[in-house]
Amino acid sequence: MPLLKIARLGHPVIRDGAEPVTDAELKAQGTQRLIDDMVDTMRDADGVGIAAPQVHVAKRIIVIEVSADNPRYPHQDSIPLTVIVNPHILSQSAEQEEGWEGCLSVPDLRGLVPRAYSVELAGMDRYGDELHLRASGFFARVVQHEVDHLDGHIFIDRLPDLSTLTHLREYQKYWVNS
Ligand code: NI
Repeated sequence: MPLLKIARLGHPVIRDGAEPVTDAELKAQGTQRLIDDMVDTMRDADGVGIAAPQVHVAKRIIVIEVSADNPRYPHQDSIPLTVIVNPHILSQSAEQEEGWEGCLSVPDLRGLVPRAYSVELAGMDRYGDELHLRASGFFARVVQHEVDHLDGHIFIDRLPDLSTLTHLREYQKYWVNS
């Protein structure tokens, strides 16, 4: 399956927000192929999640997967492949946690982002069945990061302290154990 080109910060699709997917659209072959290609593109880029706007499609679809041996995010618990269509966050914990984030659309940068420690999320799976999940820790972080993409937000918008912004090599050298 073809890998999709990843939109980078500056391309309007990253900021414009995404439209809900209709039931008919979700059943269409093109949308199912898009989801397959998003999964392949995320895996190829060693991402832990990808949102449709990041592959130039302004639709509310996110894909998340963490494998324990991901080189961009080592030491994280694995998360099975999760496709969420029209996700919305129902509730989030008041408790927040800081963690390092990067983004395939903002290559080579990391920053320290506070996020709700846990979230409750509703949406549909790729077959249109209702999906309801609770996520905490890194999973909740990835969910919040990807849902942000659907509203045109990126992690840099969430940085309370821009001085934490670091290139990946410097992150690995100075901050990985912080
Ligand atoms: Ni991202």
